[in-house]
Amino acid sequence: MSQCRICSSTVREFLDFGSHPLSSAFVSPDATGEEFRYRLAVGACTSCGMVQLTEDVPRERLYHKGYPYHSAGSTVMHAHFEETGRGFLARELGGPDPFFVEIGCNDGVTLRTVADAGVRHLAFEPTGVAGGRVHSAFFDAESAAEVRAAEGPAQVVYSANTLCDIPGIGAVFEGADILLAPDGVFVFEDPYLGEILARTSFDQIYDEHVFFFTARSVASMAACFGFQLVDVERLPVHGGQIRYTLARAGRRTPTAAVAELLAEEAARGIGEAAGLDRFGAAVHTVRRDLVALLRDLTAQGHRIAGYGATAKSSTVTNFCGIGPDLVPYVCDTTPSKQGKLTPGMHIPVRPDTAFRDPYPDYALLFAWNHAEEIMAKEQAFRDAGGRWILYVPEVHIV
Ligand code: SAM
Ligand code: TMP
Repeated sequence: MSQCRICSSTVREFLDFGSHPLSSAFVSPDATGEEFRYRLAVGACTSCGMVQLTEDVPRERLYHKGYPYHSAGSTVMHAHFEETGRGFLARELGGPDPFFVEIGCNDGVTLRTVADAGVRHLAFEPTGVAGGRVHSAFFDAESAAEVRAAEGPAQVVYSANTLCDIPGIGAVFEGADILLAPDGVFVFEDPYLGEILARTSFDQIYDEHVFFFTARSVASMAACFGFQLVDVERLPVHGGQIRYTLARAGRRTPTAAVAELLAEEAARGIGEAAGLDRFGAAVHTVRRDLVALLRDLTAQGHRIAGYGATAKSSTVTNFCGIGPDLVPYVCDTTPSKQGKLTPGMHIPVRPDTAFRDPYPDYALLFAWNHAEEIMAKEQAFRDAGGRWILYVPEVHIV
């Protein structure tokens, strides 16, 4: 039993993936020495319902100058973040001299969209990935107070795929409280537990993703820190996300969408023990089916490659025991991953251009959240007789 990071009540563990390496710690082929490992396990708070990892990995081990993730690698995500920036400009940043702050901007597409409109902006990004006006620091009460003193209050504090990554999330709420204008909004978008359960997308569970939000758990968390959930919006990206809009308690009227989603979660029992235990059982079924399929295809002499050396795939390969004997290589567009070995299972990573050189018979789509974009781009693979293997929502070939 561990303690809830939000309300300090007891967390009941419902799934233990065992010992795992860091999901983005790609290994040099000539590296010696042990990889850092931790126990990857997930539980739910018996009081506020927040689903969360039961062990922490030190954040400095995850987010540093060698952090390999680049958000703009996907054209769909690029377009999504431009649209997000335009939405803020239209809805929240229309007053005199507005100020936009982003937490974890990575390569900064939303930030640039706001900057290009001539709006004051600043991002907190410890990895130094982004160009533009970026404070190379973790966002917390201290760094927020410095910015508030120097630049005044922000109309929007926004964060994508980052809030769910921060175990000490209380410090982020303190920072948002310090930095936000009285009527400002604190907006974040992250993977939705309801979608993870519906799709058995257990690969969303890895070291970076500490929290798995629902409207219920976010509403409860917001209340703990003097905020209120005032809007929710479903996003189709990254396998199903929710954009949560928070305001200071009592400052804005919640939209009907909040009550609707809360009612839906209650009706479907999302986050309740029975559903979480069913998810745990379904995860084991996917592992069994995926390993059996890869072994069968390999025994029949088919050539298999992985596609997308995602952080998510670290959970799949390490939990299922999938190494180069079943998937001899994985192709990926990220230069800093190419030529390295995947964490733990040590599958060689090749450039995406090597995918066609020659095409494998089957490609295991680890980047399934970008399926539409990748399958369109790789139509020639299908035309040449290649087939995709997917494991979400269950193991299947298309
Ligand atoms: N927002 C981008 C997106 O949606 O594609 C990047 C998401 S990436 C998974 C998380 C980013 O948050 C990383 O670039 C990381 O360096 C940054 N990050 C993590 N903790 C942070 C913190 N406390 N303050 C600011 N940035 C943080
Ligand atoms: P993500 O699922 O966390 O966004 O990671 C996607 C990974 O897949 C990243 O390493 C880049 C890679 N990728 C490709 O290799 N080709 C592509 O077309 C896309 C969209 C991603």
